[in-house]
Formats: sequence, C-alpha cells, structure tokens
Amino acid sequence: MPTRVLRPLLAWLAVAAVLGLTWFALRLSTAEPVGAAMPTVAQHAAAPRAAFRLLDHRGREVTERDLRGAFTLVYFGYTSCPSVCPTTLTDIAVAMESLEPDGPEVRALFVTVDPARDTPATLATYVEAFHPRLVGLTGSEAQIRDAARSFRAHYRTAGDVEDADYLVDHSAFVYLIGPDGRMLTYFPHGTSAKAMTAEVRARVAGNR
Ligand code: NI
Repeated sequence: MPTRVLRPLLAWLAVAAVLGLTWFALRLSTAEPVGAAMPTVAQHAAAPRAAFRLLDHRGREVTERDLRGAFTLVYFGYTSCPSVCPTTLTDIAVAMESLEPDGPEVRALFVTVDPARDTPATLATYVEAFHPRLVGLTGSEAQIRDAARSFRAHYRTAGDVEDADYLVDHSAFVYLIGPDGRMLTYFPHGTSAKAMTAEVRARVAGNR
C-alpha cells in the first residue's frame, strides 16, 4: 500500500482505538452491578479478611476470631453522625429483625471512626437504641485505623477537633463477613434493609 494512503489510515485507526478505549473505560466506570446481586468483593483467597482487636460497648475485647461461625454485618461510623449513620444502622436493625425468624442469627458490629468521643459507655447507649444485639466497638486511634484498613474503610476528621461538634467524613459501606472471616460482599450506602436481608438469606442458604 502506498505511504500516502497508509499514513492517514494508520492515523484514523489510532483515533478509533483511543475512542474505543475511552468508551470502554467510561462504560466500566458507570457499570451497574450485574442483575440484582450486590457487588461481589472477590472469591476465595483474594477476598479481604477482617482483622481487628477492639473493645465492645461492654468493655470486652473482641477480635476477628469472634466472627467465626456466623455471618456478620459490619459498619464503620460514629455516634455524633448527623444522618448517614442513624439511617444505615436503622436499616441494619430492620434486616437483623427480619432475619431472626429464619434461623441462623446474623451479628452486627458498629465500629466507631471517632474513638476520642465514642467510649464504650457512649457506644452502649447508642447501639442499644437500634437493636439489642448490635455491638459497638471502639479502641485506640491505631486500633481503629488498623481495623478500618482491613475492611478498606476510610474516614477523616473534618474541621477543628477543638470544636465539640466536629464531623468525621467516612465511607458508609455495610460489609458482610462470612463464617470464615472473609468479606463476602458489601452494600453501598442507601441499600434497603429488604435488599440486605435478601442477600444475607441467599448467602446463608448457600445460593450465592
Ligand atoms: Ni456517619
């Protein structure tokens, strides 16, 4: 093929390739989870494994070993959170209630990202308002940081901590941990109690 034809042809092919890749990347970034299923974190060995050593709202030490043998919903937040945490914890409580008559009890943990204010006593009053079996967890700043890291949860204190009403920005996923301590899936903020219940039920039944 003569060069004067080949050059423009190659240029057009390059442009087409770039456009194609851009389209593909945009599609990936806006893709919805397939079907009704929640995003699956990973199968088997690649799934993040929960790891933490914290104090519960009654002052007892809890580690990831205590999660073994049951399904556990885990959520990171803080008791002074104005709206996201109360909404999510209400959904978790409703999901726990609807799952109870089915048999295997599902546990739920609320890990604070604000250990400076969320002492075990503060957590106790807070979690009991949502569900009698919701467990509040706190610890040192380092323990909270390590726990969050193992779940890939993020948080950052916003504003001046000298101000008593400071806010903490945080990711708001609800994680589902399997009986072997591995993360099975996570629910984005705004997932209904009904959707969480359905997903947990499917996992407990081994259908997913
Ligand atoms: Ni919150």
